[in-house]
Amino acid sequence: MRRLTLLLLAPLLLPACGPKGEGTFAPGEIWPDNNGVHINAHGGGILIADDTYYWFGEHKTEGTAGNSAQVGVHCYSSKDLYQWKDEGIALAVVTDDTTHSITKGCILERPKVIYNRKNNQYVMWFHLEPKGAGYSGAMSGIAVADRPAGPYVFLKAIRPNAGAWPLNVQDIHRTTTPVDGSQTFSGGNLPTHPDSLNLLGRDMPGGQMARDMNLFVDDDGTAYHIYASEENSTLHISQLDEDYTGCSGRYARFFVNRFMEAPVMFKHEGNYYLIMSGCTGWAPNAGRSAVASSIWGPWEELENPFRGEEAELSFRSQSTYVLPLPGAPGRFMYMGDRWTPNDAIDGRYIWLPLRMEGKQPVIEWNNRTNG
Ligand code: DGJ
Repeated sequence: MRRLTLLLLAPLLLPACGPKGEGTFAPGEIWPDNNGVHINAHGGGILIADDTYYWFGEHKTEGTAGNSAQVGVHCYSSKDLYQWKDEGIALAVVTDDTTHSITKGCILERPKVIYNRKNNQYVMWFHLEPKGAGYSGAMSGIAVADRPAGPYVFLKAIRPNAGAWPLNVQDIHRTTTPVDGSQTFSGGNLPTHPDSLNLLGRDMPGGQMARDMNLFVDDDGTAYHIYASEENSTLHISQLDEDYTGCSGRYARFFVNRFMEAPVMFKHEGNYYLIMSGCTGWAPNAGRSAVASSIWGPWEELENPFRGEEAELSFRSQSTYVLPLPGAPGRFMYMGDRWTPNDAIDGRYIWLPLRMEGKQPVIEWNNRTNG
């Protein structure tokens, strides 16, 4: 880790870009990999392993078809966070079985990878929608590998926490009476749900809906799955099992009726932080943030972490990861996506330093990110 820290901090301290742009990155511009091709890892996250950063994200293709998974999860590696080597497809969609959970044309979003020390295994979770059913599946896919860059082997697709009530279940929800089937949910910008609308109970037997998601590993090695649930209205935080390949059944619901997407968790000075977005499809909206001294809450909602021009649109980005910079306590890299749904492959990356102002995470625009 020490070597990585030095490699990382050197470019962070550079005042501007080198002759070919090494050591800096221009948010929102084309970001070429080692082959000169725009990096294709959207909705991504970072794994640090073997003194190397690994960036996993959705491989998008041209046009609107590229909004569904035609290829799989792409992986890149880097020693300095600026120059990225193409490591190829870490998890490929299945092309010879149209009934497979990750058959070509499914929706496979926001892949994240964490390392499980117990099994010496890399574990990937992602938001999975079976092919042809829009966003109604709301499932989580899980895959594993014995090398950071893969190849990853698909394990299963689940709805999290089947048969379990959350730690903070309310008595009025402790019933599995189905919600009136005539009600439909768009998943975004819904009117506030009344407490009596029991989406939690509806989904308890078969598992909770899980769309936008992230993973977080705490200092003690306990891992968590954070996902937009209950028709996107409510965020769930769910403890994984010891293998990180399933749910422990211990989970809780937060931000009821706040319609949060794109959740990202990080820790600073003993407190847990969340950065999130509102829920407006591919269109950007104002960021959200929250803090808690325990992962199980209470969570206190803070301000929009973005500051300055276009802050109300999160600089036209949506959060996907926050990377604590190794060896630099209190310094973080915000990673966001600028989606281009009409030509999915052209999506851009908004990476900017995130700093703490007391308990408030703050992200400011910079034409060049170099620390
Ligand atoms: C916003 C989510 O954050 C994206 O990952 C994707 O699911 C789009 N919605 C689809 O509209």
